[in-house]
Amino acid sequence: MHLNEFKPLIKTKISTTPYHLNLLSDEERVLAFKEAIKEKAKGTVYDIGAGCGILSILAVPYSDFIYAVEIDHTAAKHAKSNLESFDNVLVINKDAREVIFPEKANLIICEMLDTALIDEEQVPVLNSILKYLKKGGEVIPKKVLNGAEAIDMERENICYEDDEANEKPNYDVMSDFKIYSEIDFKNEIEENVETDLEFKISKKGSISGIKITTFTLLTDSLICGPTPMLNPPLLVPTEKINVDIGDIIKVKLIYKMGGGLDSIRTRIEKVS
Ligand SMILES: C[S@@+](CC[C@H](N)C(=O)[O-])C[C@H]1O[C@@H](n2cnc3c(N)ncnc32)[C@H](O)[C@@H]1O
Repeated sequence: MHLNEFKPLIKTKISTTPYHLNLLSDEERVLAFKEAIKEKAKGTVYDIGAGCGILSILAVPYSDFIYAVEIDHTAAKHAKSNLESFDNVLVINKDAREVIFPEKANLIICEMLDTALIDEEQVPVLNSILKYLKKGGEVIPKKVLNGAEAIDMERENICYEDDEANEKPNYDVMSDFKIYSEIDFKNEIEENVETDLEFKISKKGSISGIKITTFTLLTDSLICGPTPMLNPPLLVPTEKINVDIGDIIKVKLIYKMGGGLDSIRTRIEKVS
């Protein structure tokens, strides 16, 4: 389905909440998931965090049966109405961690991504349902890569780069970019992160934060960078230090995946 075919489908046929409509309007995100689903969906599929059911709709033609699980009552009601004409989908309005699935899955789709998985329930949810994945089964997304760079930022609070409610935050990139973690969703995920990031400074000035960027590998061959609704880069303030070109600085970054933005801690020091 090309985007031009997809657009009328959204406008005329899908009933949704305002939040899920924003998700649907992020065409890059939806089309990337559509490609991944076309490649991987077969047999029994779980759509975990199904929202208004869009990813289940995309999986219908390739799947024997889909369990679409959504915790939010209103979203689940929309999903039921959007999916009622398909006889191979069951919408379950429940916390996915409490569902006892009657059969194992060939594919688990779990679109609950937030930057570096910090403000996101996906980690505990996936950790609890991985036991239902068949041997050789797949998960969409497959992996995420998290990277960071040192910045000089104006705001003193943690904020997303795409801050729709306020003016876009101002910042200057001051260092190289480092990938610091790779998370494979087929393995149980350690939720607590504590990492030492080393940056080489490329500009004279001051460092007052780091920018975290997440890249999502939906499948081996399909990588999706930040989109408006998928992993917008996160700006995290640190103490302020002055730097010169060529300096090396170290930032200790601590957070809990699924623990929310309040779980983030940083400590910055100049190494040389
Ligand atoms: C980012 S939205 C994705 C919605 C939809 N899959 C889409 O792509 O448009 C994540 C959804 O996961 C749901 N969710 C969060 N925690 C959940 C849980 N423990 N069990 C089931 N659904 C959950 C949220 O209510 C939300 O609708």
